[in-house]
Amino acid sequence: MRPQTSIKAAQFTESVIREMSRVCSEHGGVNLAQGFPDFAAPLEMKRAAIRAIEADINQYAVTWGAPRLREAIAKRSSDYNRLDVDAQRNVTVCCGATEAMISAMLAVLNPGDEVIIFEPFYENYGPDCVLSGAVPRYVSLRAPDWSFDKQELEAAFGPRTRAIIVNTPHNPTGKVFDRGELQQIAELCRQHDCLAITDEIYEYILYDDSEHISIGSLEGMADRTITISGLSKTWSATGWRIGWCIASEEITGAIRKVHDFLTVGAAAPLQEAAADALAFDSGYFDQLRVDYTRRRDLLLSALTDCGFNAFTPRGAYYIMTDIRPLTEADDKSFAMDLVRDGGVATVPGSSFYANPADGSAIIRFCFSKEFATLERAARILRRRLS
Ligand SMILES: Cc1ncc(COP(=O)(O)O)c(C=O)c1O
Repeated sequence: MRPQTSIKAAQFTESVIREMSRVCSEHGGVNLAQGFPDFAAPLEMKRAAIRAIEADINQYAVTWGAPRLREAIAKRSSDYNRLDVDAQRNVTVCCGATEAMISAMLAVLNPGDEVIIFEPFYENYGPDCVLSGAVPRYVSLRAPDWSFDKQELEAAFGPRTRAIIVNTPHNPTGKVFDRGELQQIAELCRQHDCLAITDEIYEYILYDDSEHISIGSLEGMADRTITISGLSKTWSATGWRIGWCIASEEITGAIRKVHDFLTVGAAAPLQEAAADALAFDSGYFDQLRVDYTRRRDLLLSALTDCGFNAFTPRGAYYIMTDIRPLTEADDKSFAMDLVRDGGVATVPGSSFYANPADGSAIIRFCFSKEFATLERAARILRRRLS
């Protein structure tokens, strides 16, 4: 029999994060692997969803997004991200940032185009390149501040480069790209006539004095940037599958076509509730930041007490840790030992690198969890490792 599966599907494996979650539930551990909140989503947003279902908003929405939600996205992105957004021309609502990213890539990339990706990276970008026929080129972010080398970045741009993926605040490192770094990236995009595809799903989860800047707001970048975000992280609703992308009218036209044939559209009643959620006042976003700062500090102090070399995140909700002070084992065996017998699930660092050896001394902890969950994890870690 000839192979029954495609060459593309053979090029990526099941997510390591899901595997860790499975082992964790088998062993009754605390799951700090997968990046989803284990606490309630905002009550007002949930009530809005119930109202929408009761009002029989149960059929297909406009393929590229319910008008109210697109208006809310346009307003929020103009106010917060300083983007010039028209709801009719520039916004596409998708099934999460995940679908927004693959729709965007399928809309703008041709087979053989090169895409620059900062490494370590969020695990979807590799398979997204495979699915869109693009070739990834990696540029290193280096601990402790996860900065990049400007010359390395310049050298990555070549005649086949079509796009660079920016993810700020960054998963897995917690890096928040500053204005100077984004200006360097923007300059290279303009010079080489490339697009920036920017994943800003953690845009409101910021610590200390860090500031979120959208590369699309920088000079000359409006027409060469695709800005992606969504409901999952800021509104603690990863299962609602609501995301969006903002791009020029020309690019939006292509994204909408791809999106239509991939998924038709995101859940109609949840889009209505999302429109209400995007209109929350600043108190909601301020409280989110206060709560996440407490969660980060709780886990950071436990990890430091246990002897990890933990890199303090400036955004998003992950802590990368160097395990060398604790073990000679590699990331995978250390993470497996840690999760066994009611332990703590983490993500081995190798899953964030093209060459697994580059992440073999790192594991990632997620802290988008109830305080009680984090306290339990901290107790287990202190008992096992101190
Ligand atoms: C950087 C990044 N982008 C996108 C996503 C997924 O977003 P969504 O749930 O909107 O598809 C995640 C989830 O972990 C993420 O970390």
